Amino acid sequence: MSIDWAIIPMAGIGSRMRPLTRAVPKELLPMVDKPLIDWIIDEINLANIANIVLVTHPSKVAIKEYFSDLEQVRTSAKIHIVEQMEPLGLGHAVGCAQSVIGLEDFAVILPDVLLTDVQSHLVSPILKNMVDIFTQTQQSQILVENVEVSEIEKYGIAETTSSNLQISRMLEKPGMHETDSTLAIVGRYLFSRSIWKEIEQLKSGKGGELQLTDAIQNLLVKEIVCCYVMGVGDESYDCGNKLGYVRAFLQLAQGYK
Ligand code: G1P
Repeated sequence: MSIDWAIIPMAGIGSRMRPLTRAVPKELLPMVDKPLIDWIIDEINLANIANIVLVTHPSKVAIKEYFSDLEQVRTSAKIHIVEQMEPLGLGHAVGCAQSVIGLEDFAVILPDVLLTDVQSHLVSPILKNMVDIFTQTQQSQILVENVEVSEIEKYGIAETTSSNLQISRMLEKPGMHETDSTLAIVGRYLFSRSIWKEIEQLKSGKGGELQLTDAIQNLLVKEIVCCYVMGVGDESYDCGNKLGYVRAFLQLAQGYK
């Protein structure tokens, strides 16, 4: 079976992009010739995922308005909107989508993170590749990329068994001395339906939040979870911060030369 559901957690207030995000939700900020969220939707379209669940907050009125005009949104996927009323963490945000999805397999796409295809400078096929692998293996996969040791405390980190891409341990934002791994989660996840139970049972983790990373750790002791490592030429951009946003803009603009 393939993946029919994509969750986009977007209830956050965009604090790292203030004061701009006081005027515009970060998902609607311009990225070359369209809002940032359209690049994410393009990636989901390319992966042929039939349903998109936006997990948003009632204060983000502009998001609801934008998605009410489906001719603008350019996707054949069905859009569902659910609300996360309190910022209790990424694990909680994903859990909010269960009321719509039920107990199905699903993808999670963090809209802060833009992936670019090095050749075309346009939409990345990584999510599509991950979905193709899932269709064959039915195994959960987490997208990771190697980061500097000094950066690991900003990310969820995956440790792998030495011989393959199976994840042996996950840590959310560890200190430099807590792990030897530099494989950082970069915002794309595919989950088998078994993760729902782990999300329901989440307890407060790093920063007092319900962490998706902890749910993955609890899943991997029961079934195989693999990582999908970004290729040498693939780039990821954290558009939730000012420098990452500007770098992504310049990179993607080159695709229009
Ligand atoms: C979240 C996840 C983290 C992941 C990161 C990717 O953290 O909790 O595991 O590495 O996204 O962008 P955040 O950046 O929301 O604090």
